Amino acid sequence: MIKAIGVVGAGTMGNGIAQVFAQAGFTVRLVDIAQPMLDRARGTIEKSLTKFVEKGKLSDADRSATLARLSTTTSLDLLADADCIVEAIVESADAKGALFTSLDAIAGRDAILASNTSSISITLLGAATKRPDKVLGMHFMNPVPLMPLVELIRGQATSPETMQSASELCMKLGKTPIEAADYPGFIANRILMPMINEAIFAVMEGVGTPEAIDSVMKLGMNHPMGPLTLADFIGLDVCLAIMNVLHDGLGDPKYRPCPLLRRMVAAGQLGRKSGQGFYTY
Ligand SMILES: NC(=O)c1ccc[n+]([C@@H]2O[C@H](COP(=O)([O-])OP(=O)(O)OC[C@H]3O[C@@H](n4cnc5c(N)ncnc54)[C@H](O)[C@@H]3O)[C@@H](O)[C@H]2O)c1
Repeated sequence: MIKAIGVVGAGTMGNGIAQVFAQAGFTVRLVDIAQPMLDRARGTIEKSLTKFVEKGKLSDADRSATLARLSTTTSLDLLADADCIVEAIVESADAKGALFTSLDAIAGRDAILASNTSSISITLLGAATKRPDKVLGMHFMNPVPLMPLVELIRGQATSPETMQSASELCMKLGKTPIEAADYPGFIANRILMPMINEAIFAVMEGVGTPEAIDSVMKLGMNHPMGPLTLADFIGLDVCLAIMNVLHDGLGDPKYRPCPLLRRMVAAGQLGRKSGQGFYTY
């Protein structure tokens, strides 16, 4: 029975993941290497819960109870009693691999280790542990409290029991789990990121302004948000990391990251989180 959840990484995704688990009644410990990120995450969660209260979707008492179930720390060792740990740190295979080795040493024998990776091989992360049968991908969507989908990724050695437990966990969160195989980018980013990358090529080549490109996709294709607004929302560093995984993993030149995307990331223009991307925030 899964009761205690650990979430590692308190950035854009980690704070949302911690929130939805705490809202669903789980005890949640949120870990980050940076104390300021933990402080910011708590603030973001408080604000998000307040919005739910204002919209009448959550009672004041439930807001307080949710916050009481959530604790934050910079010490990974405190995850020793977690039944399931969801990793949401930077999109780097080396960083995630090292973290999974540490989590494997700290966590109880039966604990499930999940990664929120957008594109990195779950099989590779499982191989960094001595429990590859208990390692899977739980790919939440941004913003986590609002998006209904969780892509569940089965690594080469992930057991059916682990997939089943994760699926039940998603349903307790009120989310819909959909299974994908362990290929670069899985389903969501295999399809989404090349579109975003192509939109960036269109900006670079002067086919249209970011506003024009986003408007075409909203008004012409009925997308709720244009691809460049979405790229800013996701984070351009995350988009670049995913394109690199698709390019390296699938070997097809059609996945080559757009040079403009590379340049913007090198310049620290990461989208919403840095204040500047295709738009200014
Ligand atoms: N941004 C999105 O829209 C989105 C959507 C789905 C999945 N993802 C995936 O979620 C993961 C996190 O992305 P994000 O956008 O939240 O990143 P982010 O940059 O906002 O946050 C990453 C956090 O991880 C922390 N961190 C880094 N190394 C750590 C370590 N070793 N131990 C503990 N904390 C560490 C950082 O301090 C930071 O707070 C990535 O794998 C990304 O691909 C992102």
